[in-house]
Amino acid sequence: MKKVVLLALVAVLAVSVSFANGQQDDGKVVIGANIYNFADNFMNAAMKPVLESYAVEKGAEIQVVDSENQQAKLNDQVDVFITKGVDVLAINLVDPAAASTIIGKAKAAGIPLVLFNKEATEAGAMASYDKVWYVGTDSAESGMIQGQMMVADWKSNPDWDKNGDGKVQYVMLKGEPGHPDAEARTKYSVEAFKDAGIGVEQLALEADPNWSTQHGNDKMAAWLTSSFADKIELVICNNDAMGFGAINAMKAAGVRLPIYSVDALDQALTHIADGELDGTVLNDGANQAKATIDLAINAAMGKDVTAGTGWTLQTDGSKAVRVPYVAVTPENYQDF
Ligand code: BGC
Ligand code: CA
Repeated sequence: MKKVVLLALVAVLAVSVSFANGQQDDGKVVIGANIYNFADNFMNAAMKPVLESYAVEKGAEIQVVDSENQQAKLNDQVDVFITKGVDVLAINLVDPAAASTIIGKAKAAGIPLVLFNKEATEAGAMASYDKVWYVGTDSAESGMIQGQMMVADWKSNPDWDKNGDGKVQYVMLKGEPGHPDAEARTKYSVEAFKDAGIGVEQLALEADPNWSTQHGNDKMAAWLTSSFADKIELVICNNDAMGFGAINAMKAAGVRLPIYSVDALDQALTHIADGELDGTVLNDGANQAKATIDLAINAAMGKDVTAGTGWTLQTDGSKAVRVPYVAVTPENYQDF
């Protein structure tokens, strides 16, 4: 008997929760969102605060949950959002190769979905649902810009070629394997040297699913005590957070090697001002967050996703809004 009463109560609660959160209640669009890992510097500092404040500014309600770098956890969180009756999902995949699971859930529930920051890597995933879009960047562009900065500085600093062989002996902090940003930056930054007719030699490359400062510190510290320590001429970091760690390790070892990263977080600008970082690339998290919210609200209201916004969707089948990257150097960092 008690059990029956309890079950009835749970049912009533479930209905009232869905009404409290759903658009049917007060006309507000309710966005169910996540960050793949709150411990990620870029996501936490550059994207999360803007997702939250801009959603409110636009009259929507948003809930942002932490997926703690576990795709299984995100799958459950999406189920909960759907059960609660959110109007639209704004999802930062943990695993870029797991998009179809999330897209399948949104499609089955008939809820629009905006993926952001980690682009789906499975072929056909984006085409499998008419109400899924992506907001991010052109990953290759960050590598190209970083590469162009490094080539220009390499050319104007002949002493950087420590062994005088005309080639760049570099170490690379890659970030998350399989992440389109990590993969493209790894490729295009180095390709810029080859395009400029400058040879390259990779001394070491380390990947890290967390893109973290700790990893950058540990790997750089190890490289600086390795057999090739004296050969290193350039440190390429695929994000700022790992670069911060590498800078710490160099300071601890009393070494200052040319070093470049991507993101342009506030701390990176400070490192540039202090002469500890040679360049970074603005990864415009604030505008990516705004585009995510704009598209989500429009989608929830059944409008054309870019209606009334300044965003443009790619026409190449990626269904993506791509926010441009910008080079940040010791000459222009004060503008950021
Ligand atoms: C950023 C990294 C971040 C990653 C998370 C990238 O675009 O540059 O700093 O860790 O996104 O997915
Ligand atoms: Ca050399």
